[in-house]
Amino acid sequence: MKQIFCGLLGFFLIFTFSTCAPKQEQVEKIGSQRLYRITVADHFGRVSSEFWTVPKLEALGLKEMLSSYFDRAMKYRGTEFEAISLLKLVSKFKMKSGGDAILLNCFDDYQGILPISDILKYDLYLATKIKVGFGSSKPDWLNPLLVLVPDGKTPPFEERFLTANIRELKFVRLSDYYAPLKKVSETSEKAKQGFEVYKNNCLFCHSLKGRGGNKGIRLLDDYAFSKAAEQKKFLTDFKSFHHKGNADKQDVEQFVTTKKLRSVAEFLLAMQRSGES
Ligand code: HEC
Repeated sequence: MKQIFCGLLGFFLIFTFSTCAPKQEQVEKIGSQRLYRITVADHFGRVSSEFWTVPKLEALGLKEMLSSYFDRAMKYRGTEFEAISLLKLVSKFKMKSGGDAILLNCFDDYQGILPISDILKYDLYLATKIKVGFGSSKPDWLNPLLVLVPDGKTPPFEERFLTANIRELKFVRLSDYYAPLKKVSETSEKAKQGFEVYKNNCLFCHSLKGRGGNKGIRLLDDYAFSKAAEQKKFLTDFKSFHHKGNADKQDVEQFVTTKKLRSVAEFLLAMQRSGES
């Protein structure tokens, strides 16, 4: 009921309802009339939103699916989904948006982003229902809407193809989105590599310069990356939290090597040197 109220309030006041959305949602409520926001900016920069219910999404053509990509990342077996083609949904808005990516704002302060070219290339789906295998524990954040890689498609194994708990899809331009981070990332080859790793695996929860989500802590506040000892601590802290036994299934370690993490530290050092967070 609270979600419906929030949704309606948002509808009438053209507000973002993130502030009143509960942090954690229950899957059981998915059948109700929860509203999901789809936001586009037209060529003049005017922003408008539509509100979609699950039945409206499902009317695009519902498919029962499995995803070995998802099961691998979550260490599950045979998770069952009901999902719609993300491409079909995107094509409803493409003409009036001018964006080349969709930002995925989530109930739990996670912020995903997907280039439309990836949606096309990997034929990505959007699940409206999820049923994990018997006996598997489901973390609180694992709710629809969620992005799904269909079987038969093999995108790189990265955090960015696993966004769940989505409350809003927003069309944006990739170059605008990454603009505040881009300049710093170009200070060295290492920083550039680190930026690529960071934007595909970390930014969703550890925001920088107003981009990304705030589910995790602000890394620039916690580590002085110019000190070797702190870089080392960054690596050990990462491994002691984001490992495969993480209680909340935030095993990010599976996506990154130690070498990649070192380049992330270089990128974060460059961010710190630029004097801004
Ligand atoms: C799904 C969200 C999510 C993603 C993706 C994510 N993190 Fe985290 N991270 C967290 C949360 C939540 C914590 C725990 C914060 C706390 O201590 O309250 C955390 C903790 C950490 C810590 C340890 C901080 C400490 O105080 O011990 C480090 C370091 C870290 N993350 C780095 C990274 C890096 C680097 C990446 C990308 C390779 C990444 N994280 C991706 C959510 C995320």
